[in-house]
Amino acid sequence: MRKVLVAGATGYLGKFVTREFKRRGYWVRVLVRRKSLEKLDEVGPFLEPAIREYVDDVFVGEVTDPASLERCCDGIDVVFSSVGITRQREGLSFMDVDYRGNVNLLDHALRSGVEKFIFVSVFNPHLFEELEIGRAREMVVRELERSGMNYAVIRPTGFFSDASEFLRMALSGRVYLIGEGDKKINPIHGEDLAKVCVDAAESGEGRREVPVGGPDVFTYREMAELAFSVAGREPKITSIPPALANLLVGAIRPFSRHYYTLAKFFLIAMQNDFVAPPTGTHHLKDYYRELLPRLSRRSDFRV
Ligand SMILES: NC(=O)c1ccc[n+]([C@@H]2O[C@H](COP(=O)([O-])OP(=O)(O)OC[C@H]3O[C@@H](n4cnc5c(N)ncnc54)[C@H](OP(=O)(O)O)[C@@H]3O)[C@@H](O)[C@H]2O)c1
Repeated sequence: MRKVLVAGATGYLGKFVTREFKRRGYWVRVLVRRKSLEKLDEVGPFLEPAIREYVDDVFVGEVTDPASLERCCDGIDVVFSSVGITRQREGLSFMDVDYRGNVNLLDHALRSGVEKFIFVSVFNPHLFEELEIGRAREMVVRELERSGMNYAVIRPTGFFSDASEFLRMALSGRVYLIGEGDKKINPIHGEDLAKVCVDAAESGEGRREVPVGGPDVFTYREMAELAFSVAGREPKITSIPPALANLLVGAIRPFSRHYYTLAKFFLIAMQNDFVAPPTGTHHLKDYYRELLPRLSRRSDFRV
């Protein structure tokens, strides 16, 4: 039986990936931080599944602390990592976690003779070169290239979890777009992306890149309209001129490099087309419908 280590297993994508590996017959070890252990038993905020029943072994460790990773890859054939700090606020930088953390994991994988490393980075990486979040993940890709290990770099356009922001804004009464919202994206559901990740682990091809998106292409304006229609609200959309948005985001920089980087990431994403080869069966409309009751309970309506 093949054995996998899933790092990032408590996040949106990692939970679907953990379940998919188990469904394909793998023995599954997850790398989890002590403080996040309870997430294994919980359905996540974006409807990612509880995963305890799909896990054979829980390895407690922090990717930023190499000593805590000792023996995490023993007996493992494949390592998958979606570790990153999109949502975490713990004073660590993208270089600390997205780069060094993943490289610490790669070092352990190499020492243990792991066959293949599956790493999740971003689509259109050249657009994010000036940002630490993009640079950090691409530096991991360079390390993979140098390592001699078989690998696959998965390059998704955007996740349904992030597209849920449009539904959240629609519920609060107004959606803000950068520019006219005419740029296009085909976001992907975590379950569909998990299949791509596990296919890459099973593929005989080594050392390759996998750009991927979901089955439906939307302009950002269409995504906003879809969110209003599912929320049952009259569309109220405000277009923020890109120059003004850049100015506003720039003003965040002196106060928080982390939030500046994240805001700038989404600004760049909304000003460029992000359409990758389509795959999957999950549609954003159905996802919005599924998520609506959960978000409605949380929303403070400002109509
Ligand atoms: N969201 C998108 O639209 C998108 C698009 C393209 C690519 N990506 C890439 O895909 C990656 C995964 O996305 P996601 O939405 O699944 O992220 P997520 O839900 O934030 O999950 C991140 C995972 O990393 C773990 N982690 C963070 N810091 C850690 C540390 N110091 N040690 C060990 N584990 C740590 C988290 O564990 P805890 O639960 O303990 O915090 C969590 O399991 C992102 O990093 C991003 O670069 C995302």
